[in-house]
Amino acid sequence: MKSLEIKKDIFWVGAVDYASRDFHGYSLSPQGTTYNAYVVRDEKNVLFDTVKHEFTGTLVCRLSKLMKPEDIDYIVVNHVELDHSGALPRMIELCKPEAVLCSPKGKSAIEAHFPGWEAWPLKVVKSGDSVSIGKRSIRFLETPMLHWPDSMFSHIPEDRLLISNDAFGQNIASSERFADEIDPAVVDHAMTEYYHNIVLPYSPQVLKVLGQIEEMKLEVDMIAPDHGLIFRGKDAVRSCLETYRRFAEQKTQKRAVIVYDTMWHSTRKMAHAIAEGLNDAGVPSRIMDMKDNHHSAVMTELARCGLVIVGSPTHNNGIMPFVSAMLTYMKGLRPKNRLAGAFGSYGWSGECVKILSEALQGMGFDMPVDPVRHRCVPTHETLGACHAMGKALAEALIARCDEG
Ligand code: FEO
Repeated sequence: MKSLEIKKDIFWVGAVDYASRDFHGYSLSPQGTTYNAYVVRDEKNVLFDTVKHEFTGTLVCRLSKLMKPEDIDYIVVNHVELDHSGALPRMIELCKPEAVLCSPKGKSAIEAHFPGWEAWPLKVVKSGDSVSIGKRSIRFLETPMLHWPDSMFSHIPEDRLLISNDAFGQNIASSERFADEIDPAVVDHAMTEYYHNIVLPYSPQVLKVLGQIEEMKLEVDMIAPDHGLIFRGKDAVRSCLETYRRFAEQKTQKRAVIVYDTMWHSTRKMAHAIAEGLNDAGVPSRIMDMKDNHHSAVMTELARCGLVIVGSPTHNNGIMPFVSAMLTYMKGLRPKNRLAGAFGSYGWSGECVKILSEALQGMGFDMPVDPVRHRCVPTHETLGACHAMGKALAEALIARCDEG
């Protein structure tokens, strides 16, 4: 088990978690994830972040190949969430650092997580603070809500290295450590998935941080996040920043996602008729049955879609539970700038489209076309109405996108 030198005297000492499948409701299937931690060797040796608790031994092993743990002088806690600080108590015990550096909110989070923190040499740093470690310095930038209030970046200007914690992360478990070592489409998908399942609600804060990176004229030719692969080279860094700006601005395409559940295939037939209407009007779509798709996958698909259409039969005077769970998850992630539609079948009471419409409008989505609902098995006429609904929604989406 080795560390990996990512720049001269800067090492990756993290852990690859092939088995993890859930991150507070976000499905990590089938990839797993990584918990990246980094060591800088200088007059003061610094450990940036740690790993999830069960990987403490891995971190200690990789670190020990470089130096004795007690040779670490500073530990930087860029983020207190336990996937990065689970090993912190043990590392403080082993390393006995002179200082544990964290943001003001980081100190508060440490106090709330770790009994015995009073004995730790906590030192609060703020945006713009710089700490000399010898030939290098560490400059800090608080990045609140990326992805917790305490989060911060560590910039090492002498190496043009940005240690970005959760930001620019991807949930990928692999032997490779650099993004340029694997298929760019895989990296792009993983970044899209990660952003839209974790970072999306904090898009206004992302835009603020991107502005600060420009204002501060941070020189960066490597972004080292705490999850997934490292981006090296100025082109890769520029591409990362542009991708995050595009995600945060929630720019979408002339595409739709149709999400539904069904009991006896009536709502499914309606979904397919709507898709045909969309397609005939020039808007491609993906149909996602919630029995076969995780709500995380819906959010990843929604990343590029300007239109979301949701269907459910009426079920016990409500909607189907998988659809309900998906809507709850989606609402929390605060997608913006979408059009929406609703449809569904029913047996007697028929509340489905009302419930769906209220949920979609509650997320701020415009619904320019009346929902379609049908009692029991859809007739030829009803499927025609679904087709017309798809076509009308496609036309509304195209007009909206063309308006800019
Ligand atoms: Fe990777 Fe917010 O923790």
